Amino acid sequence: MSRIDDLSFKILRSFTLLMEAKSPDLWLHSLRVASLAVALGRALDLSERAQLELEVAARLHDLGKLALPDVILGKGESLGEAETAAIRAHPVLGERILSPLPLTDEVRKAVRSHHERMSGEGYPDGLRGEEIPLGARIVAICDAYDAMTNPRSYRPPKATEKALVILIQDDGQQWDPRLTETFVRVVRQEPSRTGPGLLSLDPVGFGTGRAGRGQSWPELDGLMGGRGSR
Ligand SMILES: [Fe+2]
Repeated sequence: MSRIDDLSFKILRSFTLLMEAKSPDLWLHSLRVASLAVALGRALDLSERAQLELEVAARLHDLGKLALPDVILGKGESLGEAETAAIRAHPVLGERILSPLPLTDEVRKAVRSHHERMSGEGYPDGLRGEEIPLGARIVAICDAYDAMTNPRSYRPPKATEKALVILIQDDGQQWDPRLTETFVRVVRQEPSRTGPGLLSLDPVGFGTGRAGRGQSWPELDGLMGGRGSR
């Protein structure tokens, strides 16, 4: 299959609807992360296809959290050992949920590896440096920035500049420093990157509206890989 098919795209949209219904905060977070990821991808001169892959992966990077018990999902910071282990399973769960869809490896890997760290101390695979797929390194930066700059029940949001300084001062331990450098420039140039991305995975007109509901998405040519379920 060389392009996303209509049914697969509808299933991706259903996942975003499920996320919106189950956890509006997670859904909004995913929208913002996707917008940031596409902005970073564009600044890095990634191809249109790579930007689309980034957006799909960012929109669904935390899909696996929907499989977690509600008590864990809404708990915040004070997690026990078993709860932490359950939370840490979400990247693999997300990849598994998406596995029947013929998505490219880039999308799958970005979902699976978005909690890896450049130092090798992340999860689930302990990948190090450029072993971590580019899409995952991009989503990780956007994910962290969005988490820091939005409130949680247990802490207020950080100011934009403070969050950017934390990214810069990381010094390549958690995030790819070359990507954070570009990310910081993008956010400083356009501080409120929370607008629509390229796709239209939502029922209420999020995205550019280039394709209406029920239509095919010719701009997604090549987004889907050749593999089916595994
Ligand atoms: Fe995550």
